[in-house]
Amino acid sequence: MELFEAIFTRHSNGNVRSEELPRDLIGKLLDAGNQAPNHYKVRPWRFFVLTGNARNRLGQAMAASQLARNPDLPTETFDKTKKLPLRAPLIIAVGVDQPSESKVIEEENLSAAAASCQNILLAAHASGLSAIWRTGEWARDAKVKRFFGLAEEQKIAGFLYIGHPAEKAESVSRPSFADRTVWME
Ligand SMILES: Cc1cc2nc3c(=O)[nH]c(=O)nc-3n(C[C@H](O)[C@H](O)[C@H](O)COP(=O)(O)O)c2cc1C
Repeated sequence: MELFEAIFTRHSNGNVRSEELPRDLIGKLLDAGNQAPNHYKVRPWRFFVLTGNARNRLGQAMAASQLARNPDLPTETFDKTKKLPLRAPLIIAVGVDQPSESKVIEEENLSAAAASCQNILLAAHASGLSAIWRTGEWARDAKVKRFFGLAEEQKIAGFLYIGHPAEKAESVSRPSFADRTVWME
């Protein structure tokens, strides 16, 4: 798929089939994520590839954390949270490194990780897959970060839910850039 076609036709879609994705295809997506621009060549993204039972383990960590924060959590909510990661056969969680040298800036690392997420979304789309970038409270949850082995001060740029589309893609129409743009000459 040509680049502009991919950019203009990509849209988020969480309605995906449960069928597993081949490892080499997942590798292609990670390769695309790894091509993102980043300052000082620090490659601040950390990819956590969740398939199969790892998604249940993430769901358990999410639900346990929610319960710890809210001891009155209804059982239905606990059970619903536990199943959230099962919405796609593949989740790529993207963690962000804290700067290891004074010249490296945290915001720039987050920007680079976000660029990496977008590369993955575009690569997924160009491969005929559907995806949606999610965060929610889980991206800021200390216990979820611990599940991935991330430090509490580290950020999670997103959870990319990816799979084969369950239904035909809709067409995409987005507002023009005009009201977001100032031409300075
Ligand atoms: C950083 C970030 C976090 C997001 N978190 C969520 C989320 O938790 N749940 C959700 O439904 N959409 C979330 N979205 C929005 C969708 O990923 C998507 O961008 C939005 O629905 C617009 O659709 P489009 O990509 O087709 O334009 C998030 C987007 C970004 C950039």
